[in-house]
Amino acid sequence: MSSIPLEVSQVRLTRVAANWVTTALPEGGFAVDATVGNGYDTLFLADRVGKSGRVLGFDVQKMALNNASEILRFAGTLDRVRLILGCHSGLGRALIGYPQVDAAMFNLGYLPRGDRRIVTRPSTTIPAITALIERLAPNGRITILAYRGHPEGPEEYAAIRGFLEPPDLEVRELTGDADNELGPRLFLVKLAQT
Ligand SMILES: C[S@@+](CC[C@H](N)C(=O)[O-])C[C@H]1O[C@@H](n2cnc3c(N)ncnc32)[C@H](O)[C@@H]1O
Repeated sequence: MSSIPLEVSQVRLTRVAANWVTTALPEGGFAVDATVGNGYDTLFLADRVGKSGRVLGFDVQKMALNNASEILRFAGTLDRVRLILGCHSGLGRALIGYPQVDAAMFNLGYLPRGDRRIVTRPSTTIPAITALIERLAPNGRITILAYRGHPEGPEEYAAIRGFLEPPDLEVRELTGDADNELGPRLFLVKLAQT
């Protein structure tokens, strides 16, 4: 039986994810957005880390990074963000030379209003989560929002849930109050305190 408890949230899961990482993200901190998309999570992270902080963002689609650059430029926070056009499975290499990661966010699936054939997949999502766990600050936090309503979603969700069982992690799983088998699930991950 799984050791990850399932909790029901009355608050939108995207909001829960943002609130939860905030606690781990000091001014001047370092954050990773593993799936930049239209840039809303990147914008939030860039705002939280302030002028002296840094955010590293990944996406495989140029269109996503263009959209994200635009809102970051508009908000005046583009200078503290490095956007990488590429798969987040390259995170391990990309993190060399950066400090430990205070917070990382995964918002999986496809780009809203974009090409639905370009989706995150467990074969690359799990190496990316692994790289982040290895570089996570002692009080660092990772959020993973997995969508199950598209064809590849249930398999990715199940693979991630199975992967997040090791005893050295503290993991919570949240669902919205209208839970059903195709609804999104949010994982909140941190290192177990010794
Ligand atoms: C649901 S969207 C992200 C939403 C975004 N966080 C926001 O705030 O707008 C998922 C994104 O993951 C990207 N993606 C898919 N596979 C990827 C991969 N292997 N590495 C990095 N990004 C990937 C897609 O291109 C898409 O833009």
